[in-house]
Amino acid sequence: MTAPGLPEPVPAAGLPPRVRIHEVGPRDGLQNESTVVPTEVKAEFVRRLAGAGLSTVEATSFVHPKWVPQLADAADLFTAVADLAHPLSPAAPVDLPVLVPNERGLDRALELGARHVAVFASATESFARANLNRTVDTALAMFAPVVQRAREAGLRVRGYLSMCFGDPWEGRVPAAQVVRVCRALLDLGCHELSLGDTIGVATPGQVTAVLAALNEAGVPTERLAVHFHDTYGQALANTLAALQSGVTTVDASAGGLGGCPYAKSATGNLATEDLVWMLDGLGIESGVDLDALVATSVWMAARLGRPSPSRTVRALTPAE
Ligand code: HMG
Ligand code: MG
Repeated sequence: MTAPGLPEPVPAAGLPPRVRIHEVGPRDGLQNESTVVPTEVKAEFVRRLAGAGLSTVEATSFVHPKWVPQLADAADLFTAVADLAHPLSPAAPVDLPVLVPNERGLDRALELGARHVAVFASATESFARANLNRTVDTALAMFAPVVQRAREAGLRVRGYLSMCFGDPWEGRVPAAQVVRVCRALLDLGCHELSLGDTIGVATPGQVTAVLAALNEAGVPTERLAVHFHDTYGQALANTLAALQSGVTTVDASAGGLGGCPYAKSATGNLATEDLVWMLDGLGIESGVDLDALVATSVWMAARLGRPSPSRTVRALTPAE
């Protein structure tokens, strides 16, 4: 039996009329798969996500292939999907951001014509060390020429900030640490910051408090995105809290794929389908066709050989 359709949308007070979804499935999702997904399957995944109406699809990472072997095919993958981002693409051009940790990564991305890159910092020393082999400040120093050169070349530069709400080695993370690194990323020239709950421990009151602390420190809320992993089932509640605080860009991963190979206990991201179900129900525009997206995640789950962890995907998929 198929699940019933979405009930009549009912808006709620204090929420934005539209939300931009920053889809991270092909990058955050697939970087954590135990098996390496073939490049042509990844390319098809990106195309299907774009076809479902996702206007931003984070495609891959130009990191050290030994650190993330799952994305070692970054150049081939980006080449296979780059036409989607072309300004003269017959469909609306899709934004295809890629992660670059350093100038080597930026050089690789520039060579292939990337127009949007992301650096990725940490609010904690332990994760900076585990993920980037650097202290927080030496990682920021590594990003400085990346952001500068990318901006000079006319690229958009996103700044991720991991472990904003808790860290598996250090426990609680003071909001002041988040504020300090956010300010540093903005000062480097990032156009947008994505606040990561890398291990999915945040709860909604904490999200409101961290966003308020950033606001008080002069970080404009319109420059912020939220990036929730769903380890404790809090990602959607945390997203609603962020929307109530004025955030309008939300990271999510089709089918709830995801995690981080360098943070124990990091599980999948907020599932894009669960997010779209909530946004549709609230009458908030996202431009995403939920049926096409669910079909994409079902298709991808078959390639990965396991069912999608997304509740919405499961509810909308007819039983075999
Ligand atoms: P390192 O070992 O300190 O690198 O790693 P290095 O600078 O000393 O260089 C060593 C060798 O690596 C050199 O080669 C470089 O050329 C090469 P050699 O001279 O020895 O032959 N190298 C590269 N090769 C290809 N592409 C590159 C590159 N850079 C150096 N870009 C490094 C430092 C940053 C490279 C490494 O730590 C790394 O690649 N880390 C990436 C980790 C990662 O991708 N993690 C997952 C993404 S972050 C995440 O998931 C969190 C997020 O989702 C938000 C959230 O949830 O919180 C974004
Ligand atoms: Mg992540």
